Amino acid sequence: MELSLLVHPAIAAGAVVSVLAAYLLKVRTKLYFRLHYAAGILAFALSMFAFPLGLFLVYTNGGVSVFPEALTFHTVSFFAAVGLIVVQGGLGMGMLLFGRKRDVYRTHKRMAKYVLIVFLLQGALGLLTLYGILPFIFGS
Ligand code: HEM
Ligand code: HEM
Repeated sequence: MELSLLVHPAIAAGAVVSVLAAYLLKVRTKLYFRLHYAAGILAFALSMFAFPLGLFLVYTNGGVSVFPEALTFHTVSFFAAVGLIVVQGGLGMGMLLFGRKRDVYRTHKRMAKYVLIVFLLQGALGLLTLYGILPFIFGS
């Protein structure tokens, strides 16, 4: 039983859900403001916790998996996910701190769907990875 392996998936799933929430709060007819900032900042913060934890857990357990391909793809796409949330979060928090400059707003708005797509992909690959390590968590 290695329950610590579930820490990253739990936090990271929270990050994926928060990205989805931040997106949905801004693309429907009614736009939310403070709720969007809360969801966006939460998505940013959880991502910043989740990825070093994932790395730490994989390096301390030697990357155990019955399905190692999933972990490989999940690791490759994490660079894109982290890069995107850092830029998206940076632009968003920049707008809150320094005012909504037009090109910052436009870039933030245009990037949103790519951030969402990459996070959903990362989440799906994460679930596959999780499936591959279940025997190591609960015994086979
Ligand atoms: C730290 C995180 C974030 C902060 C502080 C933030 C902040 C902002 C701000 C200040 C605006 C300008 C409009 C307004 O005042 O509400 C905005 C717009 C927008 N944000 Fe974010 N955001 C963050 C993360 C995200 C994420 C993760 C997504 C989606 C994946 C996203 C999608 C959007 C979209 C689509 C708009 C344009 C809405 C419109 O049509 O006016 N944001 N955000
Ligand atoms: C539903 C969402 C996710 C699930 C279920 C998930 C699941 C997993 C699992 C099972 C592992 C193996 C280690 C462990 O058990 O803790 C892992 C590793 C990892 N995950 Fe996730 N993950 C998700 C989202 C994310 C996100 C959003 C990121 C980055 C922003 C990320 C980055 C990483 C990294 C960097 C590793 C270590 C890979 C390595 O060192 O080879 N994951 N993930």
